[in-house]
Amino acid sequence: MPGWHIGIIGGSGLYEPGALEDSQVISVGSAFGTPSSPVTTGRIGDVKFSFIARHGEGHRLSPGEVNYRANIDALKRCGVTDVLAISAIGSLREELAPGTFVACDQFIDRTVGRERSFFGEGLVAHVSLADPVCARLSDLAARAAEAAGAPVHRGGTYVAIEGPQFSTRAESRMFRDWGGDVIGMTAMPEARLAREAELPYAILGMVTDYDAWRDEEAGVEVDEILAVMKQNAALARQTLIALATALPPERVPVAIETALDSAIVTPRDHWL
Ligand code: ADE
Repeated sequence: MPGWHIGIIGGSGLYEPGALEDSQVISVGSAFGTPSSPVTTGRIGDVKFSFIARHGEGHRLSPGEVNYRANIDALKRCGVTDVLAISAIGSLREELAPGTFVACDQFIDRTVGRERSFFGEGLVAHVSLADPVCARLSDLAARAAEAAGAPVHRGGTYVAIEGPQFSTRAESRMFRDWGGDVIGMTAMPEARLAREAELPYAILGMVTDYDAWRDEEAGVEVDEILAVMKQNAALARQTLIALATALPPERVPVAIETALDSAIVTPRDHWL
């Protein structure tokens, strides 16, 4: 049974994973274009990690410019077994205060104009996204964040907006009415693509602000987000160490890894 190899997609404020032994930086090609950054691989104990900085070195890629397909494809080519995304998020709920880590389990996708599938152009597939997050990986990540000392909230609906602007107050209130708990600009189409790549995906969002729904408060400021992410970077790295320590030695496969078995509609003799 293959061991764990965790792909990490680090968001704002997490440009390198730290703590990796035998680390190497490698350029990984993809049939879908250029990944956001080279892949930093290494291990913590017996667990392999491969890390991509979602916004690129020097934070040069806006959420709409990130090549999500290339990032997922590059991690798949590196042989990762699971993908854990770490992202800055805004809060749509009073109780999810800045500093809280949220292990999101649902998404509402409001992004537009991003490549969101590996399929099409002669090969049609429809994977299920009913449960877009791997419950096992999410639970392991939540426990690891708790062990690292972070306040963790389990479950939550992430509203993915196109950005790069933050939401208006009216949008922010509407997302609350829709059942959104947190808001961000990057988990979609990442989660969709991970499912198509048959990679279990989970996300730890770090709340950096209260978005724009609180009348008494000014809108979101980037300074505020970066300050919280800076404070949290060490906790995020500690979380990876705790995760490596807590992973069960045997990695039992999950159903997500066969998501394509029943998803491809095009008959095999019509494949490219
Ligand atoms: N990332 C961090 N805070 C955010 C917010 N309020 N809206 C969208 N993305 C965010």
